[in-house]
Amino acid sequence: MEIGVVTLFPALFEAYSEVGMVRKAMQQQQLALNTVNPRDYATDTHRTVDDRPFGGGPGMVMKVEPLQAAIKACKQTTPNGPVIYLSPQGQRFDQAMAESLAEQASMVLVCGRYEGIDERLIEMDIDREVSVGDYVLSGGETAAMCVIDAVSRLLPGVLGDAESVQQDSFTADGLLDHPHYTRPESVAGRDVPEVLLSGDHQRIRQWRRQQALTRTQERRPDLLADANIDEQDRAFLKKIRLEKIRLEKARLEKARLDK
Ligand SMILES: C[S@@+](CC[C@H](N)C(=O)[O-])C[C@H]1O[C@@H](n2cnc3c(N)ncnc32)[C@H](O)[C@@H]1O
Repeated sequence: MEIGVVTLFPALFEAYSEVGMVRKAMQQQQLALNTVNPRDYATDTHRTVDDRPFGGGPGMVMKVEPLQAAIKACKQTTPNGPVIYLSPQGQRFDQAMAESLAEQASMVLVCGRYEGIDERLIEMDIDREVSVGDYVLSGGETAAMCVIDAVSRLLPGVLGDAESVQQDSFTADGLLDHPHYTRPESVAGRDVPEVLLSGDHQRIRQWRRQQALTRTQERRPDLLADANIDEQDRAFLKKIRLEKIRLEKARLEKARLDK
C-alpha cells in the first residue's frame, strides 16, 4: 500500500516510520510512506500556507493553493486512492474502516493545522473526512498516525501471527479481546488463572471466549448487538447477567440489614 501524507511536519512521520509495525510493514515492502509539505508549494518568499479567516475571528486557516499543489504532488505516487482529510467533523474511524482502507492500494492523508483548511479545498479535493474521536487535536498528524498504524498492521504478512489479528478487539467476532498474561506465574500475590497453565486447549479456548464475552458485556455492551455470537454465548451472557443481578440484590439486602 502507498500512503501519501500532506503535512507541515514531515519530520514527525520520519521518526514514526522508524519504529514498530510501520517500520516492519515498510521493510517488508507492504507499505510505502511518502510525505509532502504544502510549504514547499507556497509561492511567496515567506512560504505562507495560512491566512486570516474571512469574516474575522481568531486563528488562521490553511490556504487552498499550497495544499492543492501538495495533494497533486502526492497523487503522482498514489493516483487512485481516496484523499482523506483528518478532521474532527469526519466519519468516526474504527476497526471496520481500518479493514476497508487496508484493502486499498493507496490513499492520501491530509493533515490540517490551525483552525482547519479552507472549505473550498474540501469541496474540490477531499473524498472523505475521517475523525479519530470526539475531541479536538491541534493537528491532523497524530490522527493520520492512528490511521496508518491501524491499517498497516492489517496488511498481509505484517503481523507475524495472522491469528493474533483475529483475536483482537473489534475484529472477527466483534467482541473485546480476552485478558493476557505472561511470566512470571505470580506477581505481588496475583496468580495467573489456573486454566491457562493447564495445557488443556479446549478449556483455554472456552475460558478466553467467556472472558471476551464478559468484558464486552461489562465494558462495551453496545458491541453485542452486532457481535458474531451463538446460542452457547448467549446462554453464558444471560448467566452472568443473572449472577450480577443476584449479587447486587445480596449487596442491597446486606446494606439494609447492616443499617
Ligand atoms: C485545531 S483543529 C481544527 C478544528 C476545527 N476548527 C473544528 O473545530 O472542527 C486542527 C486540525 O487538527 C486535525 N484534527 C483535530 N481533531 C481531530 C480529530 N478528532 N480527528 C481527526 N483530525 C483532527 C484536523 O486536521 C484539523 O484541521
